[in-house]
Amino acid sequence: MTASLPPAIPAADLAAHPVERAETIPSAWYTDARFAQADHDWIFTRTWQGIGHAAQVERPGSYFLAAIAGEPVIVVRGKDAVLRAFYNVCRHRGGPLALEDGCVNALQCRYHGWTYLLDGTLRGVPAMDRTELFDRKDFGLVPLRVETWEGLVFVNLAADAPPLAESVGGIAERIAPIRLGALTFARRVDYEVRCNWKVYVDNFLEGYHVPYVHPELAKLYDYTRYTTEVYDRYSLQHSPLTGDNLYSRDDGGEAFYYCIFPNFMLNILPGRLQTNLVLPVGHDRCRVIFQYFYDDVSGPGAAARIEEDLAYSDAVQQEDIGICERVQQGLASQAYDRGRFSVKYETGVHHFQELVRAAYREGMARRPSA
Ligand code: FES
Ligand SMILES: [Fe+2]
Repeated sequence: MTASLPPAIPAADLAAHPVERAETIPSAWYTDARFAQADHDWIFTRTWQGIGHAAQVERPGSYFLAAIAGEPVIVVRGKDAVLRAFYNVCRHRGGPLALEDGCVNALQCRYHGWTYLLDGTLRGVPAMDRTELFDRKDFGLVPLRVETWEGLVFVNLAADAPPLAESVGGIAERIAPIRLGALTFARRVDYEVRCNWKVYVDNFLEGYHVPYVHPELAKLYDYTRYTTEVYDRYSLQHSPLTGDNLYSRDDGGEAFYYCIFPNFMLNILPGRLQTNLVLPVGHDRCRVIFQYFYDDVSGPGAAARIEEDLAYSDAVQQEDIGICERVQQGLASQAYDRGRFSVKYETGVHHFQELVRAAYREGMARRPSA
């Protein structure tokens, strides 16, 4: 799909600069549909997308559906226990193999009933016996790369993308003894936000706005010790927890906020993980999928603690949605084109925007006519 990519991008806009001297990316990158196409072609079709978790595909035959960059995807656990991903697209005339999550012995197309084994092999083909030079072997499901990390399932549309480990390497070691893969899934909540997906990610990546947008949240942290670290493909904001609150433990505990390029966040508090997946829906809209995982989902008081966490997170999220939607309007204003970064607070935003610039540089370089 190359509907209409941006015309040539000025080299100056693509050049990397250290945070002290960098400008923010141009406002058109958030407001012009051609850059939404660039994000699709140059970022979302080439990066690992954290679309689910292992408990959704625990039993042989269990599967879930997702969409990545507009592509319908099915992730299924085989009878051999191997996790596989395919395009959810039948090789006959493009029908869907499933319409909702479930558990099956084989995948049967909902259009004319072609049946595929869980490894993607085409098996049953009703009324195809008079079709000449047709070999079922040539019509297996089209596979996709899938990897699991700490109980989270990632799929990548690009066959030549680097392994997932290059995107998440070092995180598990850093947060030990916390083990994300040992937590239990509890809840999913989706939000529709009227802003470009990069506005939402930018906002996640700095604590600069916390005292102004989230005065209640500000009480959770020891601001003097809130720090940002950047790595190749992710950044980390972390802070000791302060005071007596829903999340603090006897030893106080620590908050870790990871953003894995381009659009997947891990919000880690003692005994709890919240993931955020930010999906573009057009140039000025995104959907954010929250998943909640806990160390205790059934013990005494667990249900109440989870409800309290969900309510608290939702309040913070509503504050972020409010400001992100106003920022989208501001970016679209003729008054604004680009700004500067706080070196103290916005190194994570700068790091993310530099990765966007790098993806655009590579995308432009690959264009046949560029
Ligand atoms: S499209 Fe799948 S069987 Fe026809
Ligand atoms: Fe926020």
